[in-house]
Amino acid sequence: MNGFVFQNPVKLIFGKNKIASLADEIKPYGNKVLVVYGGGSIKRNGLYTEVMDILNENGMEVHELAGVEPNPRVTTAKRGAELCKAHQIDFVLAVGGGSVIDCTKLIATAATYDGDPWDYVVKKERPASALPFGTILTIAATGSEMNAGSVITNEETEEKYGWGSPYSYPKFSILDPSYTMSLPKDQTVYGIVDMMSHIFEQYFHDEVNTPLQDELCEGALRAIMDNGKKLVSDLQNYELRETILLCGTWGLNGFLGMGNNGGDWGTHTIEHAVSAVYDIPHAGGLAILFPHWMEQSLHLNPGRFARLAVNVFGVSPDGKSEEEVALEGIARLREYWSSIGAPARLNDYEIDNSKIDVMADKAMAGGPVGNFAKLDREQVVAILEASL
Ligand code: NZQ
Ligand code: ZN
Repeated sequence: MNGFVFQNPVKLIFGKNKIASLADEIKPYGNKVLVVYGGGSIKRNGLYTEVMDILNENGMEVHELAGVEPNPRVTTAKRGAELCKAHQIDFVLAVGGGSVIDCTKLIATAATYDGDPWDYVVKKERPASALPFGTILTIAATGSEMNAGSVITNEETEEKYGWGSPYSYPKFSILDPSYTMSLPKDQTVYGIVDMMSHIFEQYFHDEVNTPLQDELCEGALRAIMDNGKKLVSDLQNYELRETILLCGTWGLNGFLGMGNNGGDWGTHTIEHAVSAVYDIPHAGGLAILFPHWMEQSLHLNPGRFARLAVNVFGVSPDGKSEEEVALEGIARLREYWSSIGAPARLNDYEIDNSKIDVMADKAMAGGPVGNFAKLDREQVVAILEASL
């Protein structure tokens, strides 16, 4: 196990009607609030009215930034930071999914910075302060509600990168499974794929002696697969929504990755390059790419892939080599994702081979891709070509 320091300061407020404490959570920080949200789902499901009523009843001065895009743009974050400065905002409240939360993280840090917010995303500068912010989550997927990461797109340069800082943790996150009931099937599926992918990224690492982490990852994957499968054909089931919501948070709040020296994250890097160029849903790209990454990387530690196949995908190891078991596990992952309706080919998004080089270059911008597999350009191209 690699030595580590762990600190996650996010106050997680989970369960039905937990929005009741919203005003009390905000009040210590002031009363000028910027509410950040997406394209309108919170207006359609009633959450917008609920939030505004609470803020207004508590005498707060409310400003709004609407229209945060899935794959949030740096230009939108810039507008949010300008609103914060213009109105001397005390607290930023994200109401939405990972995109709204990620955008809010950049708004909150850029609100106390005179330069271009993109500087933080490309790590030209590191935040030295931020406005406090909180979240009300509406989709189980990224874990952004309980981590310091943020993924931002620059449309102009077709770049999409993750960044983070100690100042980009939410002060609190309110998770009421009721708010996820309005999610359509496709977004529900994307969420399931994303949280599973986060666990794979942390499961594949070079450390030894990580039995607790291994068991937690495998158990979380089994819980997601079992409950996720039921949920996609029973979208209004509160208990399934509740379980999947908590799984999404656990998928990327740091607990599963303790001592793993960072995990891999190569598939995320390649996916971010794909969605930077084609603006496809993040987890749609992951569902396509991950099995190919696994096939490309299994030679590095066949035993690890075989263990995943047996403990998570129920493959019988009897009379088979580790590689055979591992490949059967990857085939079962593909079957599972197809069975819930996830895409399997880049062609499903009408992506052809014309920009493979562009995507590979973007994926390679930070050097070899991933920590466990450390893919070179040729390997990245091979994964992209196999994914067509
Ligand atoms: O914009 P609105 O109208 O709100 O609609 C959204 C959006 O169209 C809709 N939606 C959300 N909650 C809903 C709902 N529709 C009906 N009912 C609800 N309750 O769902 C669509 C997708 O929302 P989005 O926030 O984009 O989804 P997600 O949470 O999957 O976030 C994806 C973004 O997060 C980044 C991805 O790259 C992508 O940009 N990631 C962030 C990470 C992090 N911060 O830790 C890690 C991830 O690996 C990921 O890269
Ligand atoms: Zn992800």
